[in-house]
Amino acid sequence: MSYTSGMGLPQDVIFDMGRARQVLSNKWFFVGTRGDVPKPRDYFTFTVLGDEFMLLHGSDGNIRCFVNRCAHQSARVVRENTGSCAAALVCPNHQWSYDLDSGRVRAAPMMGKAFADSEVAARSRLTEIAVHEVAGMVFACLGDTPDRTDMLEIDSLLAPYTTPFAMESGGYKLAHHHREIVPANWLMVMINNRECCHCRQNHKGLLDLFDPSSFNGATSPKYDAMMASGISRWESLGREWREQAFTANDSCRVARYPLADGYKSITFDGEPASRKLIGGWDDYDASTLSMWFNPNAWVHFTSDHIATNWVLPIDGETCALYSSWIVHEDAIEGEDYDVDHLTDVWLVTNAEDVELCKSMTQGAKSSYYAPGPFAADEQFCTQFCDWYMRYS
Ligand code: FES
Ligand SMILES: [Fe+2]
Repeated sequence: MSYTSGMGLPQDVIFDMGRARQVLSNKWFFVGTRGDVPKPRDYFTFTVLGDEFMLLHGSDGNIRCFVNRCAHQSARVVRENTGSCAAALVCPNHQWSYDLDSGRVRAAPMMGKAFADSEVAARSRLTEIAVHEVAGMVFACLGDTPDRTDMLEIDSLLAPYTTPFAMESGGYKLAHHHREIVPANWLMVMINNRECCHCRQNHKGLLDLFDPSSFNGATSPKYDAMMASGISRWESLGREWREQAFTANDSCRVARYPLADGYKSITFDGEPASRKLIGGWDDYDASTLSMWFNPNAWVHFTSDHIATNWVLPIDGETCALYSSWIVHEDAIEGEDYDVDHLTDVWLVTNAEDVELCKSMTQGAKSSYYAPGPFAADEQFCTQFCDWYMRYS
């Protein structure tokens, strides 16, 4: 089956995990933020195509990504999804320990002095993959010699929007992390994410907050009026708002979007999600600074929290969906924010989307599957599919 721009992906492309590995080796993919691992020794794990990795905040302040596999007999070095490790990473199997910053073996009990002085010991370490941090957001690449051009471009493209948040300097904490193994193909999740033509029927709660045009890059008289009032407020406050939809870099879309009148944050009742403001805001703003990254993420910065969502393939029919809610480091759970209130909108919305993505995956497996055409308001699905075919 061949690919035609403007149509869905061919069946053999959707389920080809060799292509998925290729794109994750050629390009950078989102794996979390500095707010997910705010303190030295904090880590969380994620899985890509059957391999488990850990994102680790080193004792030197840098965030790195190691394969979660011991160099001795391949046991998992950390067993929890998220947590904080000791001054060294210690494998629970035979207690080999590893330096947090270099991944080198520090001690290998029972191996003896001859081993400690050996070449094998000098070579033994946790395998590391490349990461690049942009405005406190962390991207990884499976390739051995990744080209950083994309990351540098995205960094300068986002700086006018993200500088007030200064997530790269710390000051944030993880309020809640949710992960879910989803019986759906990861590309179906991304295609579903790149349009909002399904929103009216499937996200009735979300549409109290957002006009679907914001997600689709479309227009309507009602939305244009909302946008005009937002623009005059953001300009008076010196906030960048202009949409850059996969230009100047074809991996990234950024824009500021208005929330419905009266909404202070992305919550179903419109009340603040957290009492501690972030991003240099003096008051709650009815807006979200949103970013979409190819191939796997979408992120929303508001005046009181940051919500991130990203997806990674496990195999052709299964993927992992990760979501985090990041708040000011001084915000106190139960006083300044309530986890259910903070997380409700995206947990509900993502669950609604998961059902659609499962259904699309079943359809894509069918012997009767044929790629269908995207509507004009599904322009970012076309962008995503063109991009995927170009780089995989
Ligand atoms: S497998 Fe890790 S110490 Fe043996
Ligand atoms: Fe959706």
